[in-house]
Amino acid sequence: MLLKDKVIFVTGAGQGMGRGIAQAVAEAGAQVVVSDLRLETVQETAQLVEASGQHTLPLIADVLDAQEMSSAIQQAVAAFGRLDGWVNNAGVVKMDSALDMSEEDWAFQFEVNTQGLFVCCQLAAKQMIAQGTGGAIVNIASNAGKVGYRNMAAYNASKAAVINLTRSLSLEWAEHNINVNAVCPGGVDTPMLLGVAEWLTRRIGGDPHELVKTMKPHQMNRHVQPIEVGRVVAFLLSEQATIIRGQAINVDGGDTPY
Ligand SMILES: NC(=O)c1ccc[n+]([C@@H]2O[C@H](COP(=O)([O-])OP(=O)(O)OC[C@H]3O[C@@H](n4cnc5c(N)ncnc54)[C@H](O)[C@@H]3O)[C@@H](O)[C@H]2O)c1
Repeated sequence: MLLKDKVIFVTGAGQGMGRGIAQAVAEAGAQVVVSDLRLETVQETAQLVEASGQHTLPLIADVLDAQEMSSAIQQAVAAFGRLDGWVNNAGVVKMDSALDMSEEDWAFQFEVNTQGLFVCCQLAAKQMIAQGTGGAIVNIASNAGKVGYRNMAAYNASKAAVINLTRSLSLEWAEHNINVNAVCPGGVDTPMLLGVAEWLTRRIGGDPHELVKTMKPHQMNRHVQPIEVGRVVAFLLSEQATIIRGQAINVDGGDTPY
């Protein structure tokens, strides 16, 4: 129970990795605020959290809308009294070759993956500072922020920016007792990964469900599961991880050696 009675906010929690993170932090004893763009999906996640015996609050909140995120924080604090941890999980990928990628797609990925994430970090940190309690923030980057993947130049760059932003925030907010880390998943079994396989098979042919089966860590004969990423996130949110600061921890089954 690393997070017993802590209040943790997870963005993009309506499916995929965010849902696994919500389940893992609940498993670690936290009360979980789950937010996403659609209420039905966060309500489903909330049911899974409740099934593990923890309190939860499902909210609609777009990370591109600072006012909506600010109001979501107020609702979380009204419900649970404070905010101890924040997970920036909401993210998007728009596949295209570097030669063909539009400025709109480039900008959209940076807006959600980097700028939206930064604004959420600011809002969460301000709440933690106002409480005087400190806290922890985990940013979901990607091993794509460390290595290059084809047809994902903007996504790769946006995640590299998250890794460096994490270092800066860790430095600046240490004095407020806020610990900021990133995790770098590899291919995780989520709708996003299937979407990547669908884009590729539209170009090269084949069945996306078959292709996605090949997108697993070389050292493991299976995909990384969202809850496995979530358990690492839960540890980084806990007081046990206070000594780990400003890092970008690979959660990719050993694929990335640095
Ligand atoms: N799946 C992978 O292989 C993988 C690997 C490395 C990193 N990641 C990262 O993990 C995170 C989660 O990915 P996933 O695979 O679960 O993706 P997903 O597409 O399955 O889920 C992403 C969730 O984020 C939400 N979201 C998108 N834009 C939002 C916005 N503006 N405001 C609020 N919510 C928004 C979506 O509605 C969705 O529920 C992302 O940041 C992604 O870049 C994924």
